[in-house]
Parts: sequence; C-alpha cells; structure tokens
Amino acid sequence: MVGEPPRTTHAASSHRLPVLILGIETSCDETGLALYDTERGVLAEQLHSQIAMHAAYGGVVPELASRDHAERIIPLIIGLMHQSSSKLSDIDLVAFTRGPGLPGALLVGAAVANGLAFALGKPVLEIHHLEGHLLSPRLAKPAPDFPFVALLVSGGHTQLIHVGEVSDYRLLGETLDDAAGEAFDKTGSLLGLSYPGGAKLAQLAERGNPTRFEFPRPMLHSPDLDFSFSGLKTAVLTQVRKLEADGPLAERDRSDLAASFQAAVVDVLSAKALKAVDESGTERLVVAGGVGANILLRHHLQKALGSNVYFPPMALCTDNGVMIAFAAAERARAGLAEMSPAQGFSIRSRWPLVTC
Ligand code: KG4
Ligand code: ZN
Repeated sequence: MVGEPPRTTHAASSHRLPVLILGIETSCDETGLALYDTERGVLAEQLHSQIAMHAAYGGVVPELASRDHAERIIPLIIGLMHQSSSKLSDIDLVAFTRGPGLPGALLVGAAVANGLAFALGKPVLEIHHLEGHLLSPRLAKPAPDFPFVALLVSGGHTQLIHVGEVSDYRLLGETLDDAAGEAFDKTGSLLGLSYPGGAKLAQLAERGNPTRFEFPRPMLHSPDLDFSFSGLKTAVLTQVRKLEADGPLAERDRSDLAASFQAAVVDVLSAKALKAVDESGTERLVVAGGVGANILLRHHLQKALGSNVYFPPMALCTDNGVMIAFAAAERARAGLAEMSPAQGFSIRSRWPLVTC
C-alpha cells in the first residue's frame, strides 16, 4: 500500500494541481475523513461523531476526544479507501486541520496526516478549520462566486467576514462573549437537553410559541456588526427560575422558551448579516458552521436575500473531512497551497483566521 519514498522537493513548485486530496478533520469531537477529486468532486467520506460519548459529561472532554480520534482514524481511513475503491498510493495530497481546536485532538489528525504523507512520499497541506467552514458553501449548487460576506456561526465562533477570494478575509464583526452555538447549547442544557443542545432546541422550538417570552435582542441596533449572546442566556435562565417557582417546567413552557430564545438569536444573526451585506457592496451571503443548519435562520435569510444566500449542504454544516479536503482544493486552484513534504509538524490550538 505504501508508495514511493518521500520526495524532498516542494510539491507546489511543480504547478500541477493535485487531483486526489485526502482531508482529515479532528479538531474537536468529530473524526472526519474525505477523498475529494478536483475533477470529479467528493468521492467518499467517513464521519464519526463523538457526541454520544461526551453527552454524559455535558460537554466535550478533551482527553476522551483525543483517545477516540486515535482509535477511530485508521479504521475510518481504511473504510474511506474501500468506499471509493482507491488505493492510498492514488492520493496526491494530504490536507489536515492544523487548528484551531483541542490540542490533543488536533495532534491525532496532524500525526496521521504527516505519517501517511511521509510514507507515501506525498505533500501535506495545513488547513485552518474556519477556512474549511467558510469555503464549504462553495460545494453547494449553484456555488457562490467571490466576493461574498460569510456568516460563520459555530459552537466556538460567531463572525461576519468579508471574503474577497480564497485567503482574502476581512473581519467585519464578531461576538463579544458567547458564540451563537454556545448560546444554543447552554440554553438547551437549561431546558434539560443533552449536549450539544442546538439541534434539539431547534426541534423543540418547532412546537413552541416564539412570541410568548420577550427575550432581548442584544446589540440589534448597535452601529457595528458585533454580537453578544451571554445576556440572552441569562434572560432565559431568569425566566426558567420564575416558571420553576410554580413547579417543574411544563412541556409547553419548554417549547415556548426554546421558540422565544431561537427567535431572538435568529433575529440578531439575520439583522447583522443583512447589514453586513448592505454595507459590503456585495450581494451574496454565505452561511457556514453548525448553526447554519438552523432552519429558522435559513428561512429568514432566504426570505430577505432569495437566491443570493448560500448554505453548505446540510450534512456539511457541522465538522467534517470534506470541507478540509475542499479548502485544500480551493487553495491549490488559487495557487495558494503551501504544500510541503512531511518533515515534522505542529498544530495551532489558537489560530485567528483574520488578524485585522
Ligand atoms: O461547526 P460545528 O460543528 O462545530 C464547531 O466548530 O463548533 O458547530 C456545532 C454547533 C453546536 O453548538 C450545535 O449546537 C450547533 O452548532 N447546531 C445548531 C443546529 N445544529 C447544530 N444550532 C442551532 N440549530 C441547529 N439546527
Ligand atoms: Zn467547526
């Protein structure tokens, strides 16, 4: 299965676009692998979510996450090769998430990526996790052209970014405290939902009345494009305490709380995203990250922007290997892939995508 000995030349200098890219994502609690063919698209993908394992602890336990990645990643790669009927030696480039994320978890992906690339004599490419999210809506059909505004909403990030082209990212606004996904998860846990509560809260909200509780819309009218969600979470907590004074929350209360909370978050996210699009001079908005799976958010934005709003395919909203392989392909196409032979590696647990 092992190819020719390691090359010492810089693969990018050959100017040949890699055809088959292996993408490896292990930044948090999903082991994601994908094979992306720059001519044929996604050939295969494998994903293992650790959600069930961490649920008992109410959040991700970093040590358990790394151990689980280490146990699963090789069988998943073997599964990937079977699924695509490819051989390891067919791989032209190994792309992996270098950060940001949990250090131990990142190290598993980085070690496997570099070990494999070294054995195969193929180059490696380090990918920024958020760039993976940011570019993944370009896998949608039709795909958005550059430039666009991206609303990046995940468990760890809430940012509005102007994307001029691959690697040209300008921060327009971000959360000052909790991320939107974090607010969903914390509120979900207040309502007795297991971690991560975002998708479950959205489901509960479907049966609820979004106007029963008037929760604040933090920073809705602030002149900037920043967000704040921690006050909203406290407002829900205060309301829960009030209701609980009369006994345990009724099912109706839980769904109305969920619907009222979701309405507040979605109002703020969509108002700021639309303001960003207005101010940016572009017409396109791209939504990325786990909260991008939220149906109400999708409806709001689609209502306002029609075909000018783009979402990644639903399955690619949360962490996955496809977005890492695809970001590598986008970088390679743009001539920006700093591919190197596997010669030792480092990860970056904290790594800003945009520094200005
Ligand atoms: O991007 P992602 O998979 O991981 C991070 O990089 O953070 O995002 C996960 C986040 C979690 O907070 C999860 O609760 C949230 O996305 N999420 C949702 C929905 N599906 C996932 N939040 C609201 N509505 C959803 N349908
Ligand atoms: Zn993510």
